[in-house]
Amino acid sequence: MIAEHIPVLLTEAVEALISDRDGLYVDGTYGRGGHSFEILNRLSQRGSVLAIDKDPEAITDAKRRFDQDLRISLFHGSFACLPELLVDKGLEPVSGILLDLGISSPQLESATRGFSFQTDGPLDMRMDNTTGETATEWLQSASKDHIAFVIKEFGGERYAWRIANAIVRERLKAPIFSTNRLAEIIKKAHPSWIRGQHPATKSFQAIRIHINRELKDLDYFLERVVDTLKIGGRLVVISFHSLEDRRVKRFIRSQERGQILPRNLPIPDSDRLIRLVKVGSAIKPSSAEIARNKRARSAVMRVAERIA
Ligand SMILES: C[S@@+](CC[C@H](N)C(=O)[O-])C[C@H]1O[C@@H](n2cnc3c(N)ncnc32)[C@H](O)[C@@H]1O
Repeated sequence: MIAEHIPVLLTEAVEALISDRDGLYVDGTYGRGGHSFEILNRLSQRGSVLAIDKDPEAITDAKRRFDQDLRISLFHGSFACLPELLVDKGLEPVSGILLDLGISSPQLESATRGFSFQTDGPLDMRMDNTTGETATEWLQSASKDHIAFVIKEFGGERYAWRIANAIVRERLKAPIFSTNRLAEIIKKAHPSWIRGQHPATKSFQAIRIHINRELKDLDYFLERVVDTLKIGGRLVVISFHSLEDRRVKRFIRSQERGQILPRNLPIPDSDRLIRLVKVGSAIKPSSAEIARNKRARSAVMRVAERIA
């Protein structure tokens, strides 16, 4: 049986997000709708939610779960397309945007999606399994250098080169079609196992991040997000990986610095055009939440508000 998804930092995220009960809010990572449900609960009958997910199964879930609630509209695609989506739908900038990054428990635990080495299945790993390259296809055609780079950069795996070598050697015998076979190849190539962690953990995470362009989508989204928010609108991002959180943190910090102007120009700070500021410090789940939901342990939430 596939696990339910338990939403992380649910109350904290929704409280930080909502400032106007009649507003339009974007849930950029619908998953199984835990956050969307709570947002709708707190909105008036005039408020609404635009829920986005790359995964068609998430959108199917949303159609079923919210078929009676006319306040929610759905979009199958990436949150990186939000500016175009708002234009297409004729919508104004929104009152708040939530991103709860990474993958959901049903994605991770469903053998047919190929995200996990715990259960054997086709090595797919696409959040949007209607388009793009599967992990099998990528591992079959990518150069050894590129495989090593991805595993090192996105997984922080010290033995990325050994693992890439083993993958390239093994793929000559036959394409790597299954999660178990990839996990076994990595296990054999990995010289140093950490107690309590499967040696393929970091490599699987890295390949998933690459296949789904997770960091590229986040960068592109952040580049253009300010204009999609109303003044007073909030951006709330929950990250599960230091590479994501670092991007969000740097983005907010650079926005707070405003336009970079030459130092010697007699321009007052008020002319620096600061459009977005940080709200509070980074928030992490309590130990009680982590005890209830192990997945929450690496979560970090950051909040920012558009001010101009
Ligand atoms: C951690 S889950 C979200 C869980 C959700 N907040 C809930 O409570 O049920 C992340 C979801 O975001 C989706 N996702 C990840 N990156 C995305 C992107 N760039 N665009 C749209 N959806 C994305 C994944 O497919 C997954 O369903």
